[in-house]
Amino acid sequence: MTSRIIGTGSYLPETVVTNDDLSKIMDTSDEWISSRTGIRERRLVKEETTASMAAEAAKRALENAGVSADEIDLIIVGTITGDYVTPSTACEVQAAIGAEHAVAFDLNAACSGFMFALSSAHAYLQANLAKTALVIGVETLSKIMDWNDRSTCVLFGDGAGAAVVKRDEVGLSGLDIGSDGAKGMVLACPNRTNNNPLVQTDKTLRYTYMDGQEVYKFAVTTVPESIHRAVEQAGLEIPDIKYFALHQANIRIIQSVAKRLRVSVDKFPISLDHCGNISAASVPILLDEMNRKGMLERGDKIVMSGFGGGLTWGTAVLTW
Ligand code: COA
Repeated sequence: MTSRIIGTGSYLPETVVTNDDLSKIMDTSDEWISSRTGIRERRLVKEETTASMAAEAAKRALENAGVSADEIDLIIVGTITGDYVTPSTACEVQAAIGAEHAVAFDLNAACSGFMFALSSAHAYLQANLAKTALVIGVETLSKIMDWNDRSTCVLFGDGAGAAVVKRDEVGLSGLDIGSDGAKGMVLACPNRTNNNPLVQTDKTLRYTYMDGQEVYKFAVTTVPESIHRAVEQAGLEIPDIKYFALHQANIRIIQSVAKRLRVSVDKFPISLDHCGNISAASVPILLDEMNRKGMLERGDKIVMSGFGGGLTWGTAVLTW
């Protein structure tokens, strides 16, 4: 027995912000952004919240799976941008969709958040602690960006993706997840600082900062290695894989991973051109777009891989 994805859903905010729109408010250009990253536009929230986007993606995934909210007994949300410290986004989703029988909690693994949530749901299902899980990746990254830091803010966007996961004979067959906390500060966003009666620290809000070149080096070495390990664990070889659904950070990272795996870049579907990097939401949004375009057929072997803040990475091989 393993775990199988039986439905997907996603939600992108209404408001489209193009590279040209950004060039009107900061010193950048469509040429700089698109040539270095492949990103042409992203969606940013106005009315939407992290929980409202997650709940909408969840409803669409349930509909796609033909499963009712009543049947969901586990909700895991990968996010670093919940609306509240508590309640968790997962608890907010539970209330919004009426999944009253679910255990619900959030998990922080940044851009690998969906992959870590999927592997955790798999562990719950295999241990018979749950029967039908909702796994979500959602981010409102626009609220943790420094909009005066053009080297970082142009890369990211907002959105949500979700999958319904159930125990089945076929599904997940290889899994490689890992962390390297020693390199955590190359992509970081500070939380609140100490302000108790004993310690008064600077109350200035601090935003995301990134050493882009270090993150790039990490991604192009770690991701191919992780994919090789997961594919081997699945008893498969790289040519057996129909699609590689990678975290949508940067087209150059994806091209480099494709080259290192000696696979045509055509096998790497893209959503970053219209989404930007949405951290934990990237992989499930991409998977949902592939699913709804009819790209996935029963029996297809798919690799999904997330990587980023922590540093963390997570790769899964699955049979659709
Ligand atoms: N518009 C115009 N110019 C910009 C700019 C922007 N948005 N951001 C930075 N620049 C400038 C810099 O100031 C620098 O100018 P200088 O040479 O006069 O000092 C120049 O562009 C080059 O900057 P640099 O940081 O060296 O660019 P780069 O070639 O390393 O590309 C990234 C930057 C971020 C695109 C690249 O490092 C990258 O893709 N890293 C991976 C990031 C990532 O994917 N993170 C998330 C992983 S989960």
